[in-house]
Amino acid sequence: MIRKNKQFYSKGKLNFLTFANDKYISRANAIEFANRFKHNDEIIVWEFGCGTGQFALNFLDELKNNKEVYKKTQYLLFDFSKKFLASTKKLLSGHGHKNIETVYYEAPDEIPRDKVHYVRMNEFWDDLYADIYTMRKGKVYNIEKKKYESNPGAREFLKLLPDDSSVVLNTSAAKHLFELNKKLVYSGVIDVFDYGFNEIELPFDTSLGFVKREAEHVTYDINFIYMKAFARALGLNVYVEMQDNYVNSVFSGLRAVETEDGLYYMNDNEIKKNKDKLKLRGYSQSFITGAIKEENEYYHMRIWK
Ligand SMILES: C[S@@+](CC[C@H](N)C(=O)[O-])C[C@H]1O[C@@H](n2cnc3c(N)ncnc32)[C@H](O)[C@@H]1O
Repeated sequence: MIRKNKQFYSKGKLNFLTFANDKYISRANAIEFANRFKHNDEIIVWEFGCGTGQFALNFLDELKNNKEVYKKTQYLLFDFSKKFLASTKKLLSGHGHKNIETVYYEAPDEIPRDKVHYVRMNEFWDDLYADIYTMRKGKVYNIEKKKYESNPGAREFLKLLPDDSSVVLNTSAAKHLFELNKKLVYSGVIDVFDYGFNEIELPFDTSLGFVKREAEHVTYDINFIYMKAFARALGLNVYVEMQDNYVNSVFSGLRAVETEDGLYYMNDNEIKKNKDKLKLRGYSQSFITGAIKEENEYYHMRIWK
């Protein structure tokens, strides 16, 4: 799977839509970041799965408004696509080379740097290998590896679900978090922006949210329930909220929308201005007027030491 995804990304193709390009979310992040770390002597940031580097560009553009914090920030970008690393370097060249570094890295390996204050990941964990479990003959069966396993965690999880359900446990994301924890300083923070599920809803549709998505590359939904438990087992603090909630905690009145060139947050005026585009995309008149709100599956997971 890693090989397949690496081939896909090494073409440097950008046919995934993520919120990384969205100005509101990177601005919200930069404002909050500056407040949190303003008293540090140094601030080391790691971003994993940087793609084209668009998030980092928007983030640093906003951070520049706070010269003190901007000067102290060292921003490292990790990816296994050399093509993306090269284009990121170019995109960020306006921010100077001294404080920016691109690092070739294949997750969930050990991270080849010493310490970090702030970690950022935008739709990165869902690209990492996960295991999918079900119960067969009263035993835990690993569908991906095609074998029975004694896995108490998977068993406990499957007990909560109707017979024949399957459940994703994000094995490599958990290993990656284990590696991050070794390098995260006390008071350090990890922000994960990704899609998946954070609760088990009833009536339960066994094919909902627990599936591997396989287009040109393989992705897995994040089982935030499992990742929260894993983070707590490492002694870390954690909460999960809707991404909309996060972005609206700094701004307000923003709603998530999808257009042909990406995922964005827009306020009511911006939604009205883009109404023709959004209607073509399938948004209803009542969404545009704000009469109904749409649920989405994008989450923000915050972990801190
Ligand atoms: C869905 S893209 C998201 C890119 C960017 N964060 C964004 O939101 O636009 C996933 C990124 O993770 C990188 N990636 C995927 N699996 C990886 C792995 N095992 N190790 C390192 N990088 C990986 C890909 O090259 C790609 O840049």
